[in-house]
Amino acid sequence: MPNRRFLFLLGSSRSEGNSELLARRAAEQLPAEVEQEWISLTEHPLPEFADLRHDTDHVRPTGGDAGLLLDATLAATDLVIVSPLYWYSVSAPTKRYLDHWSGWLRTPDIGFRDTMAGRTLWGVTALAHEEFEVADPLYGTLHHTAAYMRMRFGGVLLGNGSKPGDVLADTAALAQAKTFFAREAPVARFPYETGEPA
Ligand SMILES: Cc1cc2nc3c(=O)[nH]c(=O)nc-3n(C[C@H](O)[C@H](O)[C@H](O)COP(=O)(O)O)c2cc1C
Repeated sequence: MPNRRFLFLLGSSRSEGNSELLARRAAEQLPAEVEQEWISLTEHPLPEFADLRHDTDHVRPTGGDAGLLLDATLAATDLVIVSPLYWYSVSAPTKRYLDHWSGWLRTPDIGFRDTMAGRTLWGVTALAHEEFEVADPLYGTLHHTAAYMRMRFGGVLLGNGSKPGDVLADTAALAQAKTFFAREAPVARFPYETGEPA
């Protein structure tokens, strides 16, 4: 994995929760030369997203949490959305971060779309439900986001747990964590582009 830089975006509303624990297990397997940056979206809260797309250009954020997150995003070859399953989808801080992408796509001179194309999006999530199919909406959100951005998609690592630490008893999830980032991550395509289900 030469010249790879992983950005882990922590979207839980609590620290050191199950999603983060599972992501840290997966990240332990990354080669030492791979750079890692971890940013908590609750410790660095983005402002409420204002949709200016059809009024005026968005202005590049300088400084503040928006500037920090934009710069970290542009610098990453691999973006890992570490979000618990909240109401079957990503958490609100995670969703707000993705909403800001819509502004960054309209921000002159940063080349957000071209920069992101070909980079890789990954997901790590914890959920209380034992039947992981209930996380399909989260999977679809991340997969389709990658398809829209012409990014690669590495899939979602899922672990079971309710209270912090529970995921450490999910031995299947911990086993999958060991090889998760070694997976193939093909360029994502919408189902209508391939004729196959996502
Ligand atoms: C606001 C909220 C919504 C949740 N929604 C779901 C859900 O839709 N399905 C589910 O299985 N668990 C749900 N849970 C449980 C969490 O996914 C579970 O506790 C998970 O381990 C939290 O991950 P964390 O420790 O990384 O924060 C919800 C928890 C909260 C606080």
